[in-house]
Amino acid sequence: MSITVVYGSDQGCTRGIANRIAKKLNGKSLDIKKTKPADLEAAHLLILGSPTYGSGDLQSDWEDRIAVLDDADLSGKKVAIFGLGDQMTYPECFCDAVGILYDRIIAKGAQVVGFTEPDGYDFSYSAALRDGLFVGLVLDEDNQSEMTDRRIEAWVGGLA
Ligand SMILES: Cc1cc2nc3c(=O)[nH]c(=O)nc-3n(C[C@H](O)[C@H](O)[C@H](O)COP(=O)(O)O)c2cc1C
Repeated sequence: MSITVVYGSDQGCTRGIANRIAKKLNGKSLDIKKTKPADLEAAHLLILGSPTYGSGDLQSDWEDRIAVLDDADLSGKKVAIFGLGDQMTYPECFCDAVGILYDRIIAKGAQVVGFTEPDGYDFSYSAALRDGLFVGLVLDEDNQSEMTDRRIEAWVGGLA
């Protein structure tokens, strides 16, 4: 099964997490800046990752290249989403980018997998939270980096 992790990253944290996830799953990671619609279509399991910037926005390369998602045929595609954020500084828009990607992917007819429990986080609002679950893996390298390994491990175990 071919697994592709596509990420955007300003400061490198999301790139590092994307590489770790790809390694665990024997997949490859691609920067959204260098990704084409065909790369998304070729993956059996597609994993998308973005940190949240601004106040609840997608990372800027994702914003610039969102047409790559829109132009891809993702109907029925198995997709998982992860995001990085800072719940202490941005508790009112924590990891919103995960929710933004989710809405885009659902609109394309993809099958989103890898929902997670919001236990162990402290925030007031997140667009990633739907019906009591995060619609992907939510990581906080700014405040909870010691929990990242365990969170990734539990998440990838349920994906492939
Ligand atoms: C200017 C700025 C704005 C940010 N806005 C948000 C935000 O709205 N919500 C959030 O959860 N995190 C926010 N963050 C935190 C980043 O998402 C977090 O530090 C992330 O790990 C950065 O990932 P990167 O190293 O891949 O760029 C912001 C960080 C900065 C510097």
